[in-house]
Amino acid sequence: MGEGQKLRFGLVGGGEGAFIGAVHRLAAELDGEAELVAACCGSTPERARRAAQAIYRVPAERAYGTTREMFAAERSLPAARRMHFVIIATPNSSHVTIAGEALEAGFHVVCDKPLAADLATAEVLRDHQAASGCRFAVTYNYTGYPMVREARELIAAGGLGAIRRVQCEYLQGWLAEPLEAVNKQASWRTDPARAGASGCFGDIGSHAENLVSYVTGLRIAHLCADLASFVPGRRLDDDGNVLLRFHGGARGVISASQVAVGEENALRLRVYGEHGGLEWSQQEPNSLLLRLADRPLQVLRTGTGGLGALTTMSTRLPGGHPEGFLEAFANIYRGFMADLRGTPAGDYPCLEDGIRGMRFLDRVVASDRAGGVWVAVEENA
Ligand SMILES: NC(=O)c1ccc[n+]([C@@H]2O[C@H](COP(=O)([O-])OP(=O)(O)OC[C@H]3O[C@@H](n4cnc5c(N)ncnc54)[C@H](O)[C@@H]3O)[C@@H](O)[C@H]2O)c1
Repeated sequence: MGEGQKLRFGLVGGGEGAFIGAVHRLAAELDGEAELVAACCGSTPERARRAAQAIYRVPAERAYGTTREMFAAERSLPAARRMHFVIIATPNSSHVTIAGEALEAGFHVVCDKPLAADLATAEVLRDHQAASGCRFAVTYNYTGYPMVREARELIAAGGLGAIRRVQCEYLQGWLAEPLEAVNKQASWRTDPARAGASGCFGDIGSHAENLVSYVTGLRIAHLCADLASFVPGRRLDDDGNVLLRFHGGARGVISASQVAVGEENALRLRVYGEHGGLEWSQQEPNSLLLRLADRPLQVLRTGTGGLGALTTMSTRLPGGHPEGFLEAFANIYRGFMADLRGTPAGDYPCLEDGIRGMRFLDRVVASDRAGGVWVAVEENA
């Protein structure tokens, strides 16, 4: 791709009434580095073409009815017009097939989480990616927040001492009622065939696992899970707690719920080491609380001085102008697109992070089904 040229991308998913596809488009285009040129936005050809044109103003010849059609047609275009990467924002069970098709056709991939409906199919993508030589990002978008990156740097530099306790919770309340039959997002998230073996943990516990791994750098050795399904008739978990033992001796807990009435997107991480602790909350994302032994509480703020290089690079505005979900999402794209251009700047979650997330979910479900026993998760890295 030439200097000064925008990257071109296609979108799969994000049709009428959909949630995250349109967010991907905004995030990918936020820095003026990329443009949407093709789309396939629905599970039937007619809806997919119609939504691509109506929502995203994609020209008719690049509004595709199926992903196979999309990849074949884009591949045959001259290099100067062809898309460079594809975004996959469809329900979980379709990710691997679509990503496999894209890699086979030579397109880089950005895929939403969880990577797949089960661990075995997720692992298949390793071979596809190796054969293609393409890049692969998984949108664990919370790692794009500047203060999450600051927390990671602080811990890596030994600012808290050896980590002892990790506590992460992701609480929502929107599934406290049986919305399965009336809400598009609820219907597939509570259906094992489309969501996978876990509901709430697959949907948001997966973000918590990734946030913990990213910020602490710790790997989970063993876990013990207790999942629940509170809403009558619901086929997957809508709430749960998972105890964690990390390699190196730290302990932790991940709690996730979609029936915590009144909660919005209450993702909160607290980490405690030998000398201090830190706390970050998604709903107050521009602050990082730092508690050091025998010192007053410090509140580190986005856009102010004295922060790490990656934190500063991940911030677009002076302090006091709130940045949030879209900007953090765009930071994932910034890292990914810099990598495509061969000028790495920042980081982004990749295929191995997605596979690790699937291993976590696989073990959570296995532990819960066995009655809440401790199960092994990862070999030491
Ligand atoms: N990273 C995040 O913060 C975040 C947030 C929400 C959702 N997600 C993930 O994004 C994915 C989509 O979630 P959502 O809430 O946007 O779902 P949604 O139901 O709102 O939208 C899914 C869209 O995909 C379309 N679709 C389904 N199968 C298709 C196919 N084969 N080809 C083309 N289009 C197809 C549907 O018609 C719909 O338009 C899920 O994997 C979910 O876990 C991630």
